[in-house]
Amino acid sequence: MAAEGVAAPVPRHGAFHPLRVIAVDRLTDDSVAVTLQVPPTLRETFRFSPGQHIAVRRFADGAQIRRTYSICTPAPAPEGPSALRVGVRLVEGGEFSTYALKELTVGEVMEVMAPAGRFVLDPRPGHFAAVVGGSGITPVLSIASTLLAREPEARFSLIRGDRTTASTMFLEEVADLKDRWPGRFQLVSVLSREERQAGPVSGRLDEERLTGLLPALLPVESVDGWFLCGPYGMVRGAERALRTLGVARRRIHQEIFHVDAGDSEAVPTGPSPTAAPSRSMVTATLDGRSGTWPVREGESLLEAVERNRPDAPYACKGGVCGTCRAFLVSGEVRMDRNFALEPDEVAAGYVLSCQSRPVDERVELDFDR
Ligand code: FES
Repeated sequence: MAAEGVAAPVPRHGAFHPLRVIAVDRLTDDSVAVTLQVPPTLRETFRFSPGQHIAVRRFADGAQIRRTYSICTPAPAPEGPSALRVGVRLVEGGEFSTYALKELTVGEVMEVMAPAGRFVLDPRPGHFAAVVGGSGITPVLSIASTLLAREPEARFSLIRGDRTTASTMFLEEVADLKDRWPGRFQLVSVLSREERQAGPVSGRLDEERLTGLLPALLPVESVDGWFLCGPYGMVRGAERALRTLGVARRRIHQEIFHVDAGDSEAVPTGPSPTAAPSRSMVTATLDGRSGTWPVREGESLLEAVERNRPDAPYACKGGVCGTCRAFLVSGEVRMDRNFALEPDEVAAGYVLSCQSRPVDERVELDFDR
């Protein structure tokens, strides 16, 4: 127990904190922005970099649902935010998004994990650009608004793809950026299901269209950082287009919001499953405490850790959100799917624990690095 007058240390990982809903704003027919109040005691915990997301948890019919949602508001002052705003789009059959759109009201309390994610841009001089699809605008709105407000020597180009004007999230907020920073903010909006009388393009933001469109819009090779966010197919197509146009991989940052069952480019990394040992142990460090536990047959490393440490961080368990990222201290693992880690993170030794299975009899993970 903490001494009187001294705040108890707030666990960094996996812990959920209660935040009260103070606004639910309808953005489109199928999306809302949810604003959560952050009490003074949690401001430090919820301080975030532009582009990060939060994981939320809900219990329904005895089952736990976790989802991650990107923060759309600009990065806060050093003392941390007094509120967080996230965008939620309805996913067909999605339990949490259906609840958020149809039931969630002001005054309710949501369980929320501290912000995480490395799809971030801390303000610095330069020209940055984003290609986003649908709800992929959410983290990029935070990135662009923070950059333009804080760094007078920065410019931002946004190429966004949506189905129709009516289905476009954060239309007003993006228009505000254009009004406030007309010389430093460039907006190109591409609609796939709406014919336009005027305007440059309509159709889908796929590889072919982007390869032709981008050089006509901006000096592709001199852009200092590219931010791609949206569904898997769009992000991969945009990456291929940029690579074709000569952009170095290290200048491309990406966050995938949604992966369809047919998207199978996620080739496993590491040795084949036949190399798996019959018995193995995982040692994990989480919030400064370590333990060693057996990994049961068929279990991921996250599942083995979670059985013993319920505060292990995760959200999607599908290799997409990156919440379960850990540093592989020793031993070898095989990752089934990876839609979240950048190549340099993998090269540096990070793994998605929800997708990792032991190859060696002993492996060690550090969730604190
Ligand atoms: S929990 Fe989302 S990638 Fe592992």
